Amino acid sequence: DSALEVLAASLVTHADREGPLLPILHDIQAALGQIPSEVLKPLAAALQMTEAEVWGVVSFYHDFRQEPAGERVVKLCRAEACQARGSEELAEDLLRKAGISWGGTTADGRLTIDPVYCLGLCACGPAAQVDGRPVARLTPSTLQKLAGVA
Ligand code: FES
Repeated sequence: DSALEVLAASLVTHADREGPLLPILHDIQAALGQIPSEVLKPLAAALQMTEAEVWGVVSFYHDFRQEPAGERVVKLCRAEACQARGSEELAEDLLRKAGISWGGTTADGRLTIDPVYCLGLCACGPAAQVDGRPVARLTPSTLQKLAGVA
């Protein structure tokens, strides 16, 4: 389906409910793996919002992507307990090896690294989620292996 078809179908489903913007954005993200810029204008018009307002919401939530994610998505915890266990050093190392910055995707499309703020695994950090699966007690080598950059 094209982005505009996905948008049209989602508008039909959600337009009557209160606060339709987030459910519509979730539909688009689920169907297309991103929020393509071409939907911003028609979506804003349909909800009687400005494009800037819609854009503000898209860019506020990490779950909405402006480009498709890589084949593997590593979400590294940057919250306090994991930081105390060395998560920032782990992250810097991984980002450097992958050649990207937070939220980025490698040029070959294989890896995306996102920040996340607490996964409830604080006692056994540094923690992360790899393709939705929680992993804890990370070391540089286990993390690099999981991320596929070892
Ligand atoms: Fe990292 Fe809670 S601080 S899991």
